[in-house]
Amino acid sequence: MPGATDATAPVSCRICDGDVEEFLDLGRQPLSDRFPAPDDEGEEFFYRLGVGRCRTCTMVQLTEEVPRHLMFHEDYPYHSSGSSVMREHFAKAAQRFLATELTGPDPFVVEVGCNDGIMLGTIQAAGVRHLGFEPSTGVAEVARSKGMRIRTDFFEAATAMEVRAAEGPADVIYAANTMCHIPYLESVLKGADALLTPDGVFVFEDPYLGDIVAKNSFDQIYDEHFYLFSAGSVRAMAERFGFELVDVERLPVHGGEVRYTLARGGARTPTAAVGRLLADERDRKVTDLASLRAFTADVHKIRDDLVALLERLRAEGRRVVGYGATAKSATVTNFCGIGPDLVSFVCDTTPSKQNRLTPGRHIPVRPAAAFSDPYPDYALLFAWNHAEEIIAKEQEFQQSGGRWIRYVPEVHVT
Ligand code: SAH
Ligand code: TYD
Ligand code: ZN
Repeated sequence: MPGATDATAPVSCRICDGDVEEFLDLGRQPLSDRFPAPDDEGEEFFYRLGVGRCRTCTMVQLTEEVPRHLMFHEDYPYHSSGSSVMREHFAKAAQRFLATELTGPDPFVVEVGCNDGIMLGTIQAAGVRHLGFEPSTGVAEVARSKGMRIRTDFFEAATAMEVRAAEGPADVIYAANTMCHIPYLESVLKGADALLTPDGVFVFEDPYLGDIVAKNSFDQIYDEHFYLFSAGSVRAMAERFGFELVDVERLPVHGGEVRYTLARGGARTPTAAVGRLLADERDRKVTDLASLRAFTADVHKIRDDLVALLERLRAEGRRVVGYGATAKSATVTNFCGIGPDLVSFVCDTTPSKQNRLTPGRHIPVRPAAAFSDPYPDYALLFAWNHAEEIIAKEQEFQQSGGRWIRYVPEVHVT
């Protein structure tokens, strides 16, 4: 087969240069957060979404890198503050920092990927010195307009050093759902090393490989999610770049995440939670290739089951709409081949996605109000990570006889 050898040839690990063995091919994919306008004649950018694991450091990563300026720019449509659960989650994270790490005379916290200011708002309200790095100017402007201090830039070694020189050291660097977006983590950790106080911490939280594999949530894999972290791979990365993994905390948000705390090597004593999660990963063989290949088999089954269900519903004349034009849904619709013939539209609360088309498969995106006008027979829950919040507010849909279709951990209708 021409090209087949090339497609699976090992690539080098972005962290340690070891061999990355591919275990999942999610096919040709568009940018997950670019929603073309219906009259947009421009060509969409596509790449091949392959996922592999490093034989040396176990880091799970994409085998192709999408240039960052294509993903993060003035029209980046994701606004963090769209979920009330996430607003509360980040308010709590900020309060924790204020109570623990930020108690000195003039504390300073830097956030990487602050988006619309969902976390920094609480820091600002407490009058604590802060700086948010946010390269996507549209969302950065939202935070700035609320009075937060924002630098419209990518965080990396050079920009971090400039902040160190101009503003002094930071007590905390925090990044939520952003570290996994950054292939060039060596540069980021060099920047953190330059910027942090000797006892400072770098805290970041991202979707957890252990949960992704357990829940078959393959839609957590898309262009922006370059890495799927585990405690083992994060520890190896930290040590490689002069840091130590000193705490981990599992979080329920976005389908299961881990909050990692890095400190300089030897500066803090690792908590027992670190050893426990590492042992759990070894017991569950989270990064073993055999486990990852079993995940791949599950993902193929989900694709077959979901397409079969949607085709049956179409044949029965049922109306199916999507709920939440998530970045994740780009992976699902493009991998499974789901277009407007199977899902008539996707509703979403984000104005910058509305009246546009989903990436690649071009399903129309409609405002949230379209959902009840009239209610469909079935709603395909693309924003499954916000299920609790959404199902609570859509009681009427269920009362009208509507059913939810979910595809993680397997295809089921509720
Ligand atoms: N922290 C928010 C936003 C996550 S989305 C939340 O958890 O909801 C990821 C954000 O990271 C985007 O807003 C993107 O523009 C930003 N980003 C991407 N690369 C970055 C980098 N190198 N430095 C800082 N921000 C970055
Ligand atoms: P999310 O799952 O947070 O992230 P990603 O895009 O990275 O996969 O995205 C949630 C999307 O769902 C976002 O576009 C807003 C939308 N949404 C609704 O339409 N209604 C809701 O009640 C909620 C919570 C989200
Ligand atoms: Zn590696």
